[in-house]
Amino acid sequence: MSLSLPRWIVHRGGGCLAPENTLAGIRRAAALGFAAVEFDVMLSGDGTPVLIHDETLERTTNGRGRVADTSDAALFALDAGGEPVPRFVDAARLCRELGLLANVEIKPSAGADRATAEAVVRLAGGLWRGAERQLLLSSFSQTALDVARDLAPELARGLLFEMPPADWADVAQRLQVSSLHVAAAAFDGRVAAEAAERGLPVLCYTVDAPAEAEMLFARGAAALFTDRPDRFAAETAAYKRLHPDG
Ligand code: G3P
Ligand code: MG
Repeated sequence: MSLSLPRWIVHRGGGCLAPENTLAGIRRAAALGFAAVEFDVMLSGDGTPVLIHDETLERTTNGRGRVADTSDAALFALDAGGEPVPRFVDAARLCRELGLLANVEIKPSAGADRATAEAVVRLAGGLWRGAERQLLLSSFSQTALDVARDLAPELARGLLFEMPPADWADVAQRLQVSSLHVAAAAFDGRVAAEAAERGLPVLCYTVDAPAEAEMLFARGAAALFTDRPDRFAAETAAYKRLHPDG
């Protein structure tokens, strides 16, 4: 699967315009004209991949406790912002239906790196069968990326760091990733030069200020994650008109 990135990826579904990691958020991103969304995937207590960021339920649902300790029956009865916590398979189908590139961030709860990657990758193979350029896996977990590379080397992978370590390029080489994802503040001249030398696109999170976006693109960022898609929707529409295939 080739990797053709749009310039903007809406963070956690619809950024802050909808409850995070929800199907409503994904629909909102598409409705604003964006071509890509990022969401976080973790396993429920029954091993079902679901969209959620935190290891605990309190912040984004009306439940309590750890996601990894919650059965599907209990989890899917919760309110995650006007809808249940989405299953990964439903979010994937929605992205395909809307023609969105999905950046699926594998977000294992503690100790579940291998199991989470296995579950996501096994499902992703079928969910994106026949799709062109519509899935980009990523993770802070190198174990998860290792598993993804071994199980489905054909699925594009992005290596995530808040702050890339000095040897990040060796890690990228070992995991055979197609992109580097870093916190915007970490995308300095050194990282930009090292990535450019290796031909690796760099994606920065989370960028909500137009001036910062301009600076990061000028430095060579390939794409930016945003929580404020409303601020960049016009730019996205204009860019699409100029680059209808990109
Ligand atoms: O994938 C980019 C970004 O989502 C990583 O940070 O904590 O928002 O998942 P976080
Ligand atoms: Mg994320």
